[in-house]
Amino acid sequence: MEAAGTMEGTGTMEALRERLEAGGQGHVLRFWPELGGAARRALAAELSGMDVAEINRFFRRARGDGGGGEAAAAALDARMEPVPRDVLGSATRDRGLVPRWESRGLAEIAGSRVAALLLAGGQGTRLGVPYPKGMCDVGLPSRKTLFHLQAQRLRRLQQLAEEQHGTPCHIPWYIMTSGRTMESTKEFFQKHCYFGLKKENVIFFQQGMLPALGFDGKILLEEKGKIAMAPDGNGGLYRALGAHGIMDDMERRGVQSVHVYCVDNILVKVADPRFIGFCLEKGADCGAKVVEKTNPTEPVGVVCRVDGVYQVVEYSEISLATAQKRGPDGRLLFNAGNIANHYFTTAFLKDVVNTYEPQLQHHVAEKKIPHVDITTGQLIQPEKPNGIKMEKFVFDIFQFSKKFVVYEVLREDEFSPLKNADSQNGKDNPTTARHALMSLHHCWVLNAGGHFVDENGTRIPAIPRLKDANDLPIQCEISPLVSYGGEGLEKYVKDREFRAPLIIDEDGIHELVKNGM
Ligand code: UD1
Repeated sequence: MEAAGTMEGTGTMEALRERLEAGGQGHVLRFWPELGGAARRALAAELSGMDVAEINRFFRRARGDGGGGEAAAAALDARMEPVPRDVLGSATRDRGLVPRWESRGLAEIAGSRVAALLLAGGQGTRLGVPYPKGMCDVGLPSRKTLFHLQAQRLRRLQQLAEEQHGTPCHIPWYIMTSGRTMESTKEFFQKHCYFGLKKENVIFFQQGMLPALGFDGKILLEEKGKIAMAPDGNGGLYRALGAHGIMDDMERRGVQSVHVYCVDNILVKVADPRFIGFCLEKGADCGAKVVEKTNPTEPVGVVCRVDGVYQVVEYSEISLATAQKRGPDGRLLFNAGNIANHYFTTAFLKDVVNTYEPQLQHHVAEKKIPHVDITTGQLIQPEKPNGIKMEKFVFDIFQFSKKFVVYEVLREDEFSPLKNADSQNGKDNPTTARHALMSLHHCWVLNAGGHFVDENGTRIPAIPRLKDANDLPIQCEISPLVSYGGEGLEKYVKDREFRAPLIIDEDGIHELVKNGM
């Protein structure tokens, strides 16, 4: 066998080969003799960082002792119970309490004790874009991307907290990327000057990757000299927090509460003071924000209890019969739809990182994984699932919480995820995301006393979510720098009439202002 290059001696390669063979994974070097120097170096580097014994252990555990599949799903269904009312806070049913929660959250933000943590290591396979999802521009009038909107919401929130409490503050923004998204994400932020945030308050760190495996547990090759690797799931967060010293960084900054969220929800209220304040008031160490799930087949996980322990049962893990069950009020029994917005105290996160993380089990997703056939060297594009990817899930730590709470919000205010391309499916795509944001902003204008008129100057009735004649929402976009959640708009819109499109940003109103009244 030849050395992988100047850095890899024959001895090192032999040791690697032995280690792989001992773990039953020696086949990954099958095409070594055909590889050039650069490919050998890359493969050797990838393999030397890989703990084969651990991967085999993960596989055995994830496959379970005969536990997976239908039987497990049925068994799980029988053990599920809905979230009890006493752990639930609602932005609508408890609206009298919302101002108190909000001011508590803002006080915490003003004290620089709150951080936001973005999970942005996913590959966005369903959306099918060749760049990280956060870089998507869904066609808003401003052409802002998801990252841009989130950054501006953080800036506005800092400003609101500073105004109310008279102290300068910052919300550190931790961004978890993966081997697939790190470079492009960092470059994008640099190119856009961190969207006006201080560079030192935007902290990137990278989650781990795991190889895709055949059903027999053998590592799959994407190319002859390349392992088929995938990020280890958004629950890879906890290992990454430890590996990159993020908990120490949070401690140094005095962070006590963390809002963890997914990149793809255009309406996400980053570091939402109401949610933070609610969790603080309840003395929770862990919380989940949910929207009411109304359609049994909607692809959202549900927050529930299983054997008395809180968890999210993923949409891929619940049976249709259980998803369709209804309570006495006619609503779905399991209606706490997980929107991937979580609250954790840093104390709880520290316990997870230091103690509980190794107990988290990988979930197995059976996938069609393109791979090189080990005997023929041919690239195979499978038509049916041929292997698995192993992922941990971010919410799998709910089970360790000592005080868990759930906060329910309105879907139209807070949840419109970007999952699919426009061409694929009428749901959760750039068009629905764009419309959701503009409809919400239209509502904000109406609530602040503004009105829209049509091309003849006739007032369009003030019915929220009104669509125009072409069944499109009224084009209305308000910069997050102007309003985080609908606040502070009266001075721009009260008793005024507008013709869409209306854009309000930090430079003022950019549209036809009809008859200021
Ligand atoms: C996720 C939730 C689901 C919820 C839905 C709401 C999880 C496991 N599932 O499902 O319960 O109802 O959102 O929209 O949270 N990510 C990483 N690293 C990875 C994989 C994913 O950081 O290895 C990030 C993605 O970048 C994204 C988020 O995790 O921000 C969610 O990933 P995605 O695969 O889109 O989750 P869903 O299946 O949509």
